[in-house]
Amino acid sequence: MRILLVGAQGTLGTALQPAFHDQELVAWDQTDIDLSDLSSIAPKVQSVQPQLVINAAAFTDVDRAEQDEPRATAINGSAVGELAAVCAKIGVTLVQLSTDYVFDGRQTNGYDESAEPAPLSAYGRSKYRGEQLLQQRGRDWILVRTSRLFGQARGTSSKLDFVQRMLQQATQSDMLSVVDDEISSPTYAEDLAQAVAALIDSKVRGVVHRTNDGACTWYEFAREIFAQAGVSVKLEPVPASAFPRPAVRPKYSVLRSTKLPPLRHWREAVGDYVRTLKRNDL
Ligand SMILES: NC(=O)c1ccc[n+]([C@@H]2O[C@H](COP(=O)([O-])OP(=O)(O)OC[C@H]3O[C@@H](n4cnc5c(N)ncnc54)[C@H](OP(=O)(O)O)[C@@H]3O)[C@@H](O)[C@H]2O)c1
Repeated sequence: MRILLVGAQGTLGTALQPAFHDQELVAWDQTDIDLSDLSSIAPKVQSVQPQLVINAAAFTDVDRAEQDEPRATAINGSAVGELAAVCAKIGVTLVQLSTDYVFDGRQTNGYDESAEPAPLSAYGRSKYRGEQLLQQRGRDWILVRTSRLFGQARGTSSKLDFVQRMLQQATQSDMLSVVDDEISSPTYAEDLAQAVAALIDSKVRGVVHRTNDGACTWYEFAREIFAQAGVSVKLEPVPASAFPRPAVRPKYSVLRSTKLPPLRHWREAVGDYVRTLKRNDL
């Protein structure tokens, strides 16, 4: 099958490439397609004649989106509408990624696929706009919501993920303050990539929640990273208000899946990733 992957150099895009090694993969980064150039999307996609499209590209800087909501909305919203329309026109499935940040985090038992989004931030609103346009303009689609992705991105402009940031900060300071009042599920990009490949092969369509199992605060996430890495550092749990940031994050945005069994536990996935980083001396 010829698969067009948009956002191939991002955290998830990097993990998706080996997951489709047995397919004909056309892997595009931002030099191949600029999703903010809306009128270019349909002709470019059509020129490849894909049999399936996966969009792993997004404007993912949550705080910067507060300053540039029109650009975030173009890339995360309008561009998804364009992709949905061209996929409907050529009769292929579109796999689109979204986020727990479409929810307000006020529900204490988490969110299943039918929960009503109520984003708190510009990023969340832009991703929700993409979800709406996908549903309005798309025909055959899978919307995969996930949370707290970690994994190595290949792209040069890609930022460090939370795991890499924590390990780096521990080399510069022996005391780290970490937010302890936002709860969600860390998700290993490699596990999500395998889950996306399995979804495509399955009959499941529509909205799907895919994260590693379990949930934690950022502080608990950090504690596990250092335990797995064998790094000794003093950690201080603090409220999010200790780090004032432009975007408001949901307090409790655990995604529950009613359609599929859970992926492995996030602690196990963190262990695998930390070992990979150590092996590659990163
Ligand atoms: N990261 C998370 O914690 C998280 C949580 C929940 C959901 N998600 C969702 O999961 C998906 C994958 O996220 P990720 O963490 O893998 O993202 P990422 O690492 O930030 O990668 C996003 C990719 O999109 C590309 N991109 C940005 N603007 C573009 C444009 N105008 N045209 C074409 N490509 C563009 C980036 O290219 P450059 O590198 O050249 O900028 C980058 O390669 C996204 O839909 C995201 O919203 C992520």
